[in-house]
Amino acid sequence: MQNFIYQNPTKILFGEGQIANLPAQIPHDARILLLYGGGSIKKNGIYDQIQKAFSHFHLVEFSGIPANPEYEVLLQAVEKIKEQNLDYILAVGGGSVIDGAKFIAAAAKYEGDDPWQLLAKRNEIKITDAVPFSAILTLPATGSEMNSGAVVSRRATKEKLSFNSPLLYPKCSVLDPTVIRSLPRRQLENGIADAFTHVLEQYMTYPAGGLLQDRFAEGILQTLIAVSQPVLEDQSNYEAAANFMWSCTMALNGLIAQGVPQDWGVHAIGHEFTALFGIDHARTLAIVAPRYYEHCFEDKKAKLVQYAERVWQITSGSDDEKAHQAIQKTETFFNSIGIKTALSDYTEDYATAPEIIEKRFQDRGWVGIGENRKVTPAEVKDIVKRTFSPAV
Ligand code: NZQ
Ligand code: ZN
Repeated sequence: MQNFIYQNPTKILFGEGQIANLPAQIPHDARILLLYGGGSIKKNGIYDQIQKAFSHFHLVEFSGIPANPEYEVLLQAVEKIKEQNLDYILAVGGGSVIDGAKFIAAAAKYEGDDPWQLLAKRNEIKITDAVPFSAILTLPATGSEMNSGAVVSRRATKEKLSFNSPLLYPKCSVLDPTVIRSLPRRQLENGIADAFTHVLEQYMTYPAGGLLQDRFAEGILQTLIAVSQPVLEDQSNYEAAANFMWSCTMALNGLIAQGVPQDWGVHAIGHEFTALFGIDHARTLAIVAPRYYEHCFEDKKAKLVQYAERVWQITSGSDDEKAHQAIQKTETFFNSIGIKTALSDYTEDYATAPEIIEKRFQDRGWVGIGENRKVTPAEVKDIVKRTFSPAV
């Protein structure tokens, strides 16, 4: 096991009705920017719950954060914070709104001229201050409610970049499983696939002596498999919703990553599909993951076999057969929840994607991705080519 230092400071309020307990966690004199998306919270009662719980607070609203939070929109929110001297953010939504809050929190305190550099030069710029914020999660998927990372899109340049800082953990996050009742099925499917892939990114590497981390990861994968159909069939099934929500949070709050190698190559390629074609984040992962694992088959074989045996109960056959079957099972799982896994299912404009993505990786100096930094931009091009058609 590798050395690690682990601290996750986010306080979680979990369960039905917990929005009412959030005000006690926030300074009573806070001047709050209430940040939300396209208005789902006004239809499902969450907005009303917030108005009631925060009736004694100074709240200024900023709505319209789009899915894949848009840089230009986030800058408008930064202006509002500065103009109105606000000192706290309450993000109400899924990953897009919470990620948006993280960017706004950092950009409002950033002293440089061009806040895009927070993303473009994420390895050079050290964030030294950020507006404190809390979150009310409305879509279990990304884990943003209990981690310190964010992904921001810029449609003008078709870019999508991530950044993180220890200053960007939410102070407190409300996880009320009843929020999934109003989710469109497509978003539920996305949440399952995104969380599943988050675990894979931190698990599907090579054996590193993280016995407990492996068992945690396998437990989350098995729980997601177990609750996926119950959640899709009945969104008011509280037990299924609660286990789904907590699995999504645990998939990416840092715990299972401690002391073990991580990959994140599937996300790196997937982000390009969202940036180029606007495909939902989770769907890009389902397109990339099977082809990526086939490409990295030899390096990942030991973990693929362990995953086959422990998660999918594949016990017969050679190691190669088990590992291949595990990749197929993963793809079939995505299909079983309603997610297609070929790029051509989503866009007709895919022909030039391999070269474009190869060049972007080269231009950013990403000479190798994956846990061993071995997957070169040229190999990424090949992987993207293999995503065009469904697997045979
Ligand atoms: O905008 P509203 O009207 O609220 O509608 C949203 C949005 O259209 C809707 N929705 C959310 N909760 C709802 C609801 N509709 C009805 N009832 C509810 N309870 O769902 C739509 C999608 O929301 P969004 O926040 O975009 O989805 P998600 O949570 O999947 O977030 C995706 C974003 O997170 C990033 C992705 O790249 C993408 O930009 N990620 C963030 C990560 C992180 N911070 O750690 C990691 C992930 O890998 C991911 O990259
Ligand atoms: Zn993700």
